[in-house]
Amino acid sequence: MKKNQGFRIVVTGKGGVGKTTLTACLARLLARGETNVLAVDEDPQMNLPYALGLPVSEAAQIIPLNRNLDYIEEKTGVRPGKAWGSMFRLNPGVEDVVQRFGVKVDHYLNLLVMGTVVQAAAGCLCAENVLLDSVIRHLALRDDEAILLDTQAGVEHFGRALAKGFSQCLVIADGTFNALSVARHSAELARQIGIPHVHLVINRVREGEEGQLSRFDAMTRTDTAELFDTVFRLSMEPRFEALEPDVTRILDEKTSSYVQGVCNLAERLLAFEERRRRATAQESQT
Ligand SMILES: Nc1ncnc2c1ncn2[C@@H]1O[C@H](COP(=O)(O)OP(=O)(O)OP(=O)(O)O)[C@@H](O)[C@H]1O
Ligand SMILES: [Mg+2]
Repeated sequence: MKKNQGFRIVVTGKGGVGKTTLTACLARLLARGETNVLAVDEDPQMNLPYALGLPVSEAAQIIPLNRNLDYIEEKTGVRPGKAWGSMFRLNPGVEDVVQRFGVKVDHYLNLLVMGTVVQAAAGCLCAENVLLDSVIRHLALRDDEAILLDTQAGVEHFGRALAKGFSQCLVIADGTFNALSVARHSAELARQIGIPHVHLVINRVREGEEGQLSRFDAMTRTDTAELFDTVFRLSMEPRFEALEPDVTRILDEKTSSYVQGVCNLAERLLAFEERRRRATAQESQT
C-alpha cells in the first residue's frame, strides 16, 4: 500500500480484553512502515498515551477534548455546565482539531485524546457531545492517514457518523464466555451502523486453548465466525506485565508470538483496505 493513503479502523470490545494494547501496537507498527497514523483515544481512562510510550509527565498533562471547556465553547458557542437552554452551533467546524490538539508521538504518529461521548437515556444533546460528534465526522473525512480509534466499549453511541468513514472494525475478545458474547453483540451493532468489514480478534490465547470459540459456539448453538469477515488469534504475552505502561516495546521482541500475530493482522488490514480501494475505484469508473 502506498504511504499516506487514508483509512480508519475502530477498535472495540469488552473491558480489559486488550483494546488499548493492540491499538498502540498497530499504531506503532504502521508508523514504523512510514504510514502517517493518527491514534485516537475515546476512553475516559486515557490509557492510550501511556501505552504509546509518551513520557508519563507529558501524558498526564493532556486534557481530553470533552474537558477542554474553552475549545467546546469556542466551537459550539456554549460553555459546558453553563447556560442551560442556550442555542448550540450543531455542526461546528473542527478542521483545526488535530493541528491544535494532536500530540506528536513520533515522526509518523500523532495522538488525539477525545474523551468519551456522554451517554444519557435519550441521547444527550450537550455541548461536549455536539463537539465530539463533529470531531468524529471530521475524522471520517481525513484521508491522508491511518486513523485507529480506541474506544471505551461498544460502537453504537457513535451512530452513523462512524460508519461514514470507518471502514473496518476490530472487535477484541479474550476466550471467555462474556467477552465472546459482547463481541457478538458488538459485531451486530457495527454491521447495523454500516461498517463494511468487522473482524474478531481473540486475544491472550494460551497454547492448547485455541478451541475456546468452538466451545462457546457449541454452548450457545451459534456460529460466531459467520458474523465476522475474519477471525484472528493473538497469543498470551507474559512480558507485557514487565513492560507496562509502555507496552509497544514488545515490538522489539521478534520472537514474540503476539508480535508476529499483530504483524499478520496489520498486513491483513492493509490488504482489506487495498481491495476496498480497488473496488471503489472500479465502481467510480463504471
Ligand atoms: N496478549 C496479551 N497477553 C497478556 N496480557 C495482555 C495481552 N493483551 C493485553 N494484555 C494485558 O491486559 C491488560 C488489559 O489490556 P488493555 O488495557 O489493552 O485492555 P483494554 O481492553 O483497553 O481495557 P479497558 O477496557 O479498560 O480500556 C493489560 O494489563 C495488558 O498489558
Ligand atoms: Mg483501553
